[in-house]
Amino acid sequence: MARLFDPWTVRGVTSKNRICVSPMCQYATSDGVAGAWHMVHLGSRAVGGAGIVMVEASAVSPEGRITPMDLGLWNDVQGEALSPIVRFMREQGSVPAIQIAHAGRKASTAPPFEGGSGVGVEDGGWVTLGPSPVAFGGLPPPRALDEGDLERVRTEFREAALRAHSYGFRILEIHMAHGYLLHTFLSPLSNRREDGYGGTLENRMRFPLEVAKAVREVWPEDLPLWVRISATDWVEGGWDPNQSVVLAKALAREGVDVIDCSSGGLVPHAPIPAAPGYQTAMASKIRLEGRIPVVAVGMITDPVQAEHILVTEQADAVSLAREMLRDPYWPLHAARRLAQDIPWPVRYERARKG
Ligand SMILES: Cc1cc2nc3c(=O)[nH]c(=O)nc-3n(C[C@H](O)[C@H](O)[C@H](O)COP(=O)(O)O)c2cc1C
Repeated sequence: MARLFDPWTVRGVTSKNRICVSPMCQYATSDGVAGAWHMVHLGSRAVGGAGIVMVEASAVSPEGRITPMDLGLWNDVQGEALSPIVRFMREQGSVPAIQIAHAGRKASTAPPFEGGSGVGVEDGGWVTLGPSPVAFGGLPPPRALDEGDLERVRTEFREAALRAHSYGFRILEIHMAHGYLLHTFLSPLSNRREDGYGGTLENRMRFPLEVAKAVREVWPEDLPLWVRISATDWVEGGWDPNQSVVLAKALAREGVDVIDCSSGGLVPHAPIPAAPGYQTAMASKIRLEGRIPVVAVGMITDPVQAEHILVTEQADAVSLAREMLRDPYWPLHAARRLAQDIPWPVRYERARKG
């Protein structure tokens, strides 16, 4: 049996294989409510055989959206719209997962296909939040969170987690990567606070850890909690893999089960050496030194490459984003390539051989 198709159990949840659809913003909603696009987008990847299908970054509050078209999970209308999609994913044998997020100082922008630049308050945008008033590129500097904001954001994450559970999700991921709110607390390049939430590594980790704790308190014992991190900012003086190991251990103590290891996003134009598997070594380091299961992501496209990552114990599972957009049936095709006889959706059975 190829390792890629070996079931994976964390707490009370078993994925039929070690293939995850990485969260991918679709910018396809109004008021954060999923629709037909999401059913087709997520549903076809479940039909395609991924063990875990993770719904895109879902904002915990309106001001936590990257764009006005982001998916949200701050009210029940949004939760109810996801319910049939969750049900469909489960019927196809995939574990439904969702990433909850706050975009911080990278919020209030247009979607990439509309240029991605900042949307001003006068055009329906909003004032963004960050640990300190340090801007990302040409975007306006965020307003620094005060004590009341910190409490509110912790509560928003907790409520989104409760909602994710009540609408059927089985894996929850907290977004601490890509330069969004929680990552900006971690990195010394964006966090210039002089209170208990800035300065030392311990202080910079404090708020992200408080959020993880608040979420774990309400996310059921038998369900896995993942955290996506950027293992490095790819710039001198920024967040790095050694700090990531310390964070991973601290998150594990808060009951986080899996680190989903990404990178970058804090600084525009960082020199990222993007190439096949370019983030995998960092996943491996966190797995080994942090003693925590990890998911590797980033330019994993080939089934043999994915199998190699797992067999060499660099990661416990792989997550694919763009390749899954090119080929929603990647897991079915990967099985054929690795000579694995896995079941196909019964309605597609006549296409399995040949
Ligand atoms: C269209 C698109 C949307 C994305 N949205 C998210 C997101 O919502 N949350 C997230 O953590 N990463 C997001 N990412 C990053 C991917 O999940 C993934 O980490 C990255 O694309 C590298 O993997 P790949 O080389 O397989 O594409 C997005 C990537 C793409 C291409």
